[in-house]
Amino acid sequence: MKPLISPSLLSANFLDLKTDIQMINASEADWLHLDIMDGVFVPNISFGFPVIKAVAKECKKPLDVHLMIVHPENYISQVAATGAMMMNVHYEACVHLHRTIQQIHDAGMKAGVTLNPSTPVCLLEDIICDVDMVLLMSVNPGFGGQKFIEEILAKTRRLRRMIDESGSKALIQIDGGVNAETAPLLVEAGADVLVSGSYIFKAADPIATIHDLKQL
Ligand code: DX5
Ligand code: ZN
Repeated sequence: MKPLISPSLLSANFLDLKTDIQMINASEADWLHLDIMDGVFVPNISFGFPVIKAVAKECKKPLDVHLMIVHPENYISQVAATGAMMMNVHYEACVHLHRTIQQIHDAGMKAGVTLNPSTPVCLLEDIICDVDMVLLMSVNPGFGGQKFIEEILAKTRRLRRMIDESGSKALIQIDGGVNAETAPLLVEAGADVLVSGSYIFKAADPIATIHDLKQL
């Protein structure tokens, strides 16, 4: 099955976001991935709601919002108000994950849960049937352009098995170091959605790069 592609805006040209969003609109990208960082959960700060709202006005693709922040449950209504399709929270940031997932659904969005590289998939056993997507970080969150962590391939296979055995409909999304080399391995391991930032936005022809990633 062809993967869904969700380009990460983190590697776009922040001086001219409109041009990059129009490129995404014209491409075969399925979603647009937005990385929100608070400088507490991760050692970096990216952008917040004023930027998401502006992007949402121009972008024709569903927004896939990845919150790398503490207390993401405090921002559910604000994320919903941007019109986002998916709200993705980190397992490590949620004390009451089940409640947070319910609240995201009640706000009318799809709910995703993200695991840092060191967090094992077995911790999701009791929530896997309630989530729409699991995002496996294949780099430590906070920065674009990092090297793919190879162990994530085996982790993707373990998650694929858990999802298939449980009857969950959750998609598997991978984020970090996705490029022409790692993408086919990830699809073979069972990934459904590939996030890619620097590989797409630094390419000479981002539209062709997105097209090629979709051919896997
Ligand atoms: C990192 C972010 C990623 C980042 C990926 O914390 O979650 O979405 O943009 O960038 P690349 O594809 O360059 O590794
Ligand atoms: Zn991300």
